[in-house]
Amino acid sequence: MFYGLNRIFKKILPKQLFYRALLIVALPILILQLTISIVFFDSLWIKTNKGMTRALLGEIKTYIDSYSKNLNDSLEIDKLFKENLNFDVKYIELEKLPKKSSERWFSPIDRTLRRELKSRFSNYWFDTTSYKDLIDIKIAYKKGYFQFYIPRERVTNSSARMFALWITLPAFLLITIAILFLKNQTRPIIKLAKASERFGKGEEVEEFVPSGALEIRQAGYEFEKMRKRILRHLNQRSEMLSGISHDLRTPLTRIKLQLTFIKDKEISKKLSEDVKEMEKMLDEYLQFARSQFSEKTTKINLSKLIKSVSSKYENSKIKLELLENVEINGRTNLLQRCLENLINNSIKYANNTYLKLTKSSNHSIVIVEDDGPGIPVNEYENVFKPFYKIDKSRGDSKSSVGLGLSIANDIIKSHGGNIKLDKSNFGGLQVKIFLPF
Ligand SMILES: Nc1ncnc2c1ncn2[C@@H]1O[C@H](COP(=O)(O)OP(=O)(O)OP(=O)(O)O)[C@@H](O)[C@H]1O
Ligand SMILES: [Mg+2]
Repeated sequence: MFYGLNRIFKKILPKQLFYRALLIVALPILILQLTISIVFFDSLWIKTNKGMTRALLGEIKTYIDSYSKNLNDSLEIDKLFKENLNFDVKYIELEKLPKKSSERWFSPIDRTLRRELKSRFSNYWFDTTSYKDLIDIKIAYKKGYFQFYIPRERVTNSSARMFALWITLPAFLLITIAILFLKNQTRPIIKLAKASERFGKGEEVEEFVPSGALEIRQAGYEFEKMRKRILRHLNQRSEMLSGISHDLRTPLTRIKLQLTFIKDKEISKKLSEDVKEMEKMLDEYLQFARSQFSEKTTKINLSKLIKSVSSKYENSKIKLELLENVEINGRTNLLQRCLENLINNSIKYANNTYLKLTKSSNHSIVIVEDDGPGIPVNEYENVFKPFYKIDKSRGDSKSSVGLGLSIANDIIKSHGGNIKLDKSNFGGLQVKIFLPF
């Protein structure tokens, strides 16, 4: 049961830190204010009103009773009541009470007045709304009725509005101050979250300057240390890769030259094919290692990028189904290379290639699929490993290095995205790429 309640609370409560903190500060203030208001309203205001109304109606009753007992002296009674109690009374002869009463059911004054009138008089009418400072009470008497105009302050104390103002104003002030302070406290956390998100997506993050409370500052320092360590690591990796690739090219060139001196054409041909393959591998590595660090993140229109990549193939076997104007932040050359690798695979291993671009609430999704032989499910993990080829005899194994998918994977991961393999409805392989906006 508590679990269910917990889930409901989690659904209702705000998700953002700022609003949660604000709720923690504002809720007790509001509850306190509400409690005080209710207690005040019930115990002080309503009860006082009731007492005042009761006293007033006692006076009205006294007036009517004295009137009925001393008819000869009615003018004197009128005078006394006018002087001492500020009564403004008139007797309207031969007229009936108006039918419709303009009572407001929700008004506490009207409710109290009605209750008290009912307990003392059988036929009455009143109106509290028509005059600003007066209330109008009519009480049937013989063939006519008495009309009383009573100052409003006789039945209600006006402090309710002042009280409401005094209690809401400080609450309003407190909540405003809390908002200002909380904004300042949550800003560094949001800044850190944004920097981490951008770094995770492989975007360039300028030096992070920690700010805010001690713990947040420490998290910022640690993030900055981690960011630098990862960057150093990545730089080292790519420098090593490009160093190795570069250094190996010199002996390879020498081997190529020496190959021309080999007399046996058969051996020379085989060897030069191997050398070519090695050169291709080195080129791929070198290109990849270089491009990963030299390129800056920009806004990319994915639909346009896919169109321009597929147009290079001039191949009627590539079918497009693209959502227009899908934009992400990324590195054009790397993404282009990733798409090329996938399209190359489909062209190499299948007849028809299908490219699709859609989007979800927070990702753009590129799907590359074909009608080829596909990849067995148990090989899904392996094909992402560098230099891994499923079947040496499959396709033109000479021209393939086994780097295509692992490079594509690397590129997508460096954009904070994800790449997934699956069976295609067209019979072959389906590669699904998720890129965050
Ligand atoms: N669309 C596909 N259909 C069937 N098999 C595929 C497909 N794409 C990749 N493969 C299999 O996965 C293996 C790894 O692919 P990857 O692109 O990494 O290397 P490659 O295509 O062999 O070489 P490279 O792309 O470096 O020239 C391939 O050898 C191939 O067996
Ligand atoms: Mg390939």
